[in-house]
Amino acid sequence: MGPIGVFDSGYGGLTILHQMRETLPQYDYLYLGDNARAPYGTRSFEVVYQYTLQAVRCLFSHGCSLVILGCNTASAKALRTIQQQNLPQMDSSLRVLGIIRPTIECIGQITRSRHVGIVATPGTIRSRTYDLEIAKVWPDIHLSSQACPMWVPLVENRQANSPGADYFIQDSLIRLMSQDSLIDTVILGCTHYPLLFPKIRQFLPAHVNIVSQGKYVALSLQDYLNRHPEMESRITRTSTCRYLTTEHPDIFSENATLFLGSPIQAEHIVL
Ligand code: DGL
Repeated sequence: MGPIGVFDSGYGGLTILHQMRETLPQYDYLYLGDNARAPYGTRSFEVVYQYTLQAVRCLFSHGCSLVILGCNTASAKALRTIQQQNLPQMDSSLRVLGIIRPTIECIGQITRSRHVGIVATPGTIRSRTYDLEIAKVWPDIHLSSQACPMWVPLVENRQANSPGADYFIQDSLIRLMSQDSLIDTVILGCTHYPLLFPKIRQFLPAHVNIVSQGKYVALSLQDYLNRHPEMESRITRTSTCRYLTTEHPDIFSENATLFLGSPIQAEHIVL
């Protein structure tokens, strides 16, 4: 038995972890941030896959039976290969889940116009994973995409509320909305973007829905555990959370406060 593993390239997955702990507070969690090698959003498929696989192996070695890739870039570029090629060679009872499918599943109930936009890192957009998954689940939905290479650095450099952020956020949203005037729903397809929510709201028309992933990922995990009692019974239940980082733990602890709103203590790990 062990905790639920949550992996992200850095801090962004903390927004997902936060929602999971709100929805499913009874479980133990082990968060791993590969901060020393973040960001992943501009890296190649091969590199993101190799880094993510190392992290997943690390979380398994710490007793996790279930690992959530709380990162869109890793979910887009590494999840399928890990599920199809690596997991069968490991213990077949271990599971790795991503955050793109749960996000997509909720979209069909939210959009009325069936015209949806997504903002995400260049890596996620280039992978076209959202396009492919939406076409499978909601073939009637038309998706427009916009890569936002500056948004993660704005958050990580604590510039989310600066006038400079206004320029980059507005510019990307104008580019997205000018692709399709019928868009009524915009997916925040990157774990950092909920921290830019007030500005994103300000620069989108009032009728446009903004979808933050955390709530939907948490509900999807709850549903998964209800449907898989054999996995649920392997998760320890003392409501704790440990944080591992490849960066210096003091740096992680300081910045994590920005994402979680309360202080935490992190431990250093080498992948
Ligand atoms: N957490 C990543 C995501 O959701 C963004 C950060 C990065 O580029 O590493 O795509």
